[in-house]
Amino acid sequence: MRKPVVLITGAGGEIGHGLIERLTRQHRRSIVTLDLARLAPPIASLVDREITGSILDRQLLERLLAEYRVELVFHLAALLSTRSEFTPLAAHQVNVEGTLNLLEFAQHEAESHGKPVIFMYPSSIAVYGLPTLQQKDAAGKVREDDWTHPTTMYGCNKLYCEQLGHYYSRHYKQLAAEPASGRVDFRCVRFPGLISAQTMPSGGTSDYAPEMIHAAAAGEAYEAFVRPDARIPFMAMPDGVEALLQLSEAPRESLTRTAYNVAAFNPSAEEVRQVVTRAFTGAEITWQVDAKRQGIIDTWPADVDDSAARRDWGFAPRYDLESAFADYLIPTIRERYAAD
Ligand code: SER
Repeated sequence: MRKPVVLITGAGGEIGHGLIERLTRQHRRSIVTLDLARLAPPIASLVDREITGSILDRQLLERLLAEYRVELVFHLAALLSTRSEFTPLAAHQVNVEGTLNLLEFAQHEAESHGKPVIFMYPSSIAVYGLPTLQQKDAAGKVREDDWTHPTTMYGCNKLYCEQLGHYYSRHYKQLAAEPASGRVDFRCVRFPGLISAQTMPSGGTSDYAPEMIHAAAAGEAYEAFVRPDARIPFMAMPDGVEALLQLSEAPRESLTRTAYNVAAFNPSAEEVRQVVTRAFTGAEITWQVDAKRQGIIDTWPADVDDSAARRDWGFAPRYDLESAFADYLIPTIRERYAAD
């Protein structure tokens, strides 16, 4: 019999790091990872098999299918929003075609072992597009089905892949003689900006918050590329990882949607600066607004309504802005930079 495993794509990224550490603490499952680059040694030592390769390589996915019984997929590989604006075709290839490959892979896995494959997909507040700042202010907590008119390639990719996942889950090959849908049990969390104490993001537009914190911890000056009043939701990485795990473990019958907002805190950039300068005395943070990147932030909601996640699968973040800094970011980051 093929070995039952969890597959994590894009495992070397920020969410992958946190997720692998957390899954290893559970000790329940063997982990197979797929990433373009080698994993950092401390993370690599936690996984059962590390595959260096691309989600666009269908032959590689077929070999995986033959070798393992994949019951759960965390499909984390993606190009983030700022990066995607510079290379929109590459973004579409990785973010959309790559996801389609993985959905097909999950469909075939489920057909071959006769059990639905749970397919976890991190989506983003980038799926929203508020047309003006006035409308953003007036919108308040945005619900999942409102304002889904993204202005970025990344946002378009994420929104479409949410729909693809829903299609595989509920309507796949709906005209075929034998029912084929439901084999991929697609579940998606729409994340706010994520802030990790362990890793730095690359290529995102919400990066100003984690960049402020990491620069301050490293004793470096930082020029933020947004206005002080820029406001979007954020979340501490441990809560993001927990949300993915919790949703993956929820009974299917309690889920009323395939994509869920999750929220934790939503400070303005100036509020982030204030907490950072209180935590790291002498931190030097100034403003050098990049009007274009700020323009993207202006289309993302100031807050999201996550009542469906709270109701259906018990989402409840541990950290608010103050405790994220006091109990997670500052102690962990201090340790990290002290070790460097
Ligand atoms: N953090 C992501 C980005 O900025 C949004 O999902 O691209």
